[in-house]
Amino acid sequence: MRSYGYEYMNVEKSLNTLMMFMAVLMMLLTGYLVNKYALDNNVSSEYKSDLNLNGARLSDKIYASYEKKREHRTPSGYDAEFEFLITNIGDNRISNWKANLMVPEGTVVKNSWDAALNQHLDRNELIFAPEYYNIDINSYEATSFRVLLNTIEPFEPDSINFVGYEILSGQKDFIGPIIMVAIGIWLVAFVGYWVTRVNVRNYKERQQNDVKIILQSMNTFISFIDAKDPYTRGHSKRVAMYAAEIAKRMGLSGDEVQNIYYAGLLHDAGKISIPDAVLNKPGKLTDEERKLIQNHTIAGGKMLKQMSSIRGIRETALYHHERYDGTGYPEGLRGEAIPLYARIVGVADSYDAMSSNRVYRRHLNKDEIIEEIQNGSGTQFDPDLVKYMVDMINDGYVNVVKMETADNDNGPNSFHITESDIPGVYMGI
Ligand SMILES: [Fe+2]
Repeated sequence: MRSYGYEYMNVEKSLNTLMMFMAVLMMLLTGYLVNKYALDNNVSSEYKSDLNLNGARLSDKIYASYEKKREHRTPSGYDAEFEFLITNIGDNRISNWKANLMVPEGTVVKNSWDAALNQHLDRNELIFAPEYYNIDINSYEATSFRVLLNTIEPFEPDSINFVGYEILSGQKDFIGPIIMVAIGIWLVAFVGYWVTRVNVRNYKERQQNDVKIILQSMNTFISFIDAKDPYTRGHSKRVAMYAAEIAKRMGLSGDEVQNIYYAGLLHDAGKISIPDAVLNKPGKLTDEERKLIQNHTIAGGKMLKQMSSIRGIRETALYHHERYDGTGYPEGLRGEAIPLYARIVGVADSYDAMSSNRVYRRHLNKDEIIEEIQNGSGTQFDPDLVKYMVDMINDGYVNVVKMETADNDNGPNSFHITESDIPGVYMGI
């Protein structure tokens, strides 16, 4: 038997944790890959060249030329406007370039266009840097810039020093594949996640149906037992509740607590086999009649043999009247040889008998019950379990006076169980 509630929550929790883990992992992986590619394969390399403007005007990657657009004499010398054309004849993009031009002494810059200009006329040098719109010179494209200079003598530049960063081919493509791979992995992870979620949901629905079947079967059994012995109506449900609480306090797993609850519900199933005349006999019982009553343990064990999917349910019906000192029935098992569920249900069963009214007596009071149970420690009851039962009485978990008994029957179904009675059953999605 599974503890559905615990299982649902655990599966959901694991899924969510897995997704969080995947998300962090993917972020780290993507970051790592981007970084790795950027560092290893796509770093730009500095490209430097003195470009001869008078000779062949060619380098392996950059072609530079200039044109004197106009020139005229001025009182202080010559004004001339130069246009420089830088052409990228390589396969790669050139970025963040600058061009240094040596000018004659006494040169004055009158104007410049299409490039930021740093003047270092103390060392006869002009440095052109690109504007934001021409930072890149793509492969087989050109950029141009102009400057208007005043020089003492007519001036013809003969070379320009060009520095740029060559962006190796592949740089613009590498992010795409990484993103595609990352998206692919994410997609697979998400599809996997949702498929699993849907499966979990279907699984839950099936389990909910199973719980319903169990619930209805249990209630049918309870109806049989209660119909046979109406005076102890509610006994099954209460014993189940007490037994489950003892199990919980012992720290047993959710599955075990739930199994013990079911075992508690059906522990007296064998009562159905006791003849009515014996069960309801008001006077003293003969030995034979007592045997018939005691036989409800063996009968219960036989009846529940088929219910093997709920662990311990048969043994509990069979052994819940065994005593810790070995003087119980039907087999006289002693100590730990008595299955744990049967020992737990035994204590819960006795507590309920003491706290309920019977034909021949009213229920005992709280102190009397505690005394009785403690007296039975080690003889009737497992001493380890006695302390949990006594704690439950002392801390008010079970309340002798307000106990639901046959005296305050709230209708034919009040002793049936609902989903919320079963420990560990979580029906929500
Ligand atoms: Fe019993």
